Amino acid sequence: MDKKVTKIGVLTSGGDSPGMNAAIRAVVRTGIYFDLEVYGIMRGYAGMIDNDIIKMESRSVANIIQRGGTILKTGRCKEFFDAAGRKKAYENLKKHGINGLVIIGGDGSFRGAQVFSNEFDIPCIGVPGTIDKDIAGTDFTIGFDTAVNTAVEAIDKIRDTMDAHDRIFVIEVMGRDSGYIALHSGIATGAENILIPEKETDIEGILSALMEKERRQKLVNLIVVAEGKFGGANEVANAIKERLPQQEVRVCILGHIQRGGSPSCFDRLVASRMGFAAVECLLESRYNVFVGIVNNRMHYIPLNEAVKKKQRVSEDWMKIVKILSS
Ligand code: F6P
Repeated sequence: MDKKVTKIGVLTSGGDSPGMNAAIRAVVRTGIYFDLEVYGIMRGYAGMIDNDIIKMESRSVANIIQRGGTILKTGRCKEFFDAAGRKKAYENLKKHGINGLVIIGGDGSFRGAQVFSNEFDIPCIGVPGTIDKDIAGTDFTIGFDTAVNTAVEAIDKIRDTMDAHDRIFVIEVMGRDSGYIALHSGIATGAENILIPEKETDIEGILSALMEKERRQKLVNLIVVAEGKFGGANEVANAIKERLPQQEVRVCILGHIQRGGSPSCFDRLVASRMGFAAVECLLESRYNVFVGIVNNRMHYIPLNEAVKKKQRVSEDWMKIVKILSS
């Protein structure tokens, strides 16, 4: 592909994450700075299929850097999985003369971008926007820091009431197949146990430890569970209640509160850097990659590699959890 990119489209796709707006702002303003025409595609890939595409100006992204959600809206578009849907999307982009795309989203969105870029002559650049931090090849994803801080604030509050009543609390955080929100928020709030999908859970071991603690009169216990693990917090709580019927156990599912709110300073910076770098990629013909940050430097990975690899949870972190909660 050696045609120069002159008109670019930007969209947000998958679950929203705080900082997506900051990334949109960075893409739009960088594009305009380098004399590109920039178009906003509404509701992710669905907007490409429905031709819901609007011209963006510098002012279109004013006053959004501090806002959660996404001004372009988002969604998970099933039609884009079909070749017919992608063809329709391509034809709509052609109508506008769009010849470069920036996709802000998670691994599902990158998978769509990878297929699309193989089929059609429109280069795609991925920007990782997901609270789950489940994409290999980047130290950060947009929204993770805010989501984790939201979880920490909530768990700290729960700890007060947990302590006042001498209760066991099982708190469920988001992260579908990824334990990063659980791991970070659990360590930061001093959780006794953290259950994540990436690691085997020794539920018997946890129950025996709780019984031993009960014997020693340690009645307060905080357990953080990633939603995809073990049937979630309710199941863990039921197992505890069965074994320790005299103990008071409560469950709190933090849910979508973790996806909303004003992005942290960190997420705004990550989003601004990644949005800028995504446009640079299109200008420098570095096509069909996703933009990450590794060791505080921009890092570029082919989209097809991004969708294959998964983040790994370091054994050191698991060791920290064990030692610090003893
Ligand atoms: O991928 C982000 C995420 O928030 C996951 O952590 C969660 O499992 C999922 O999205 C929830 O999706 P929805 O908002 O569609 O219920």
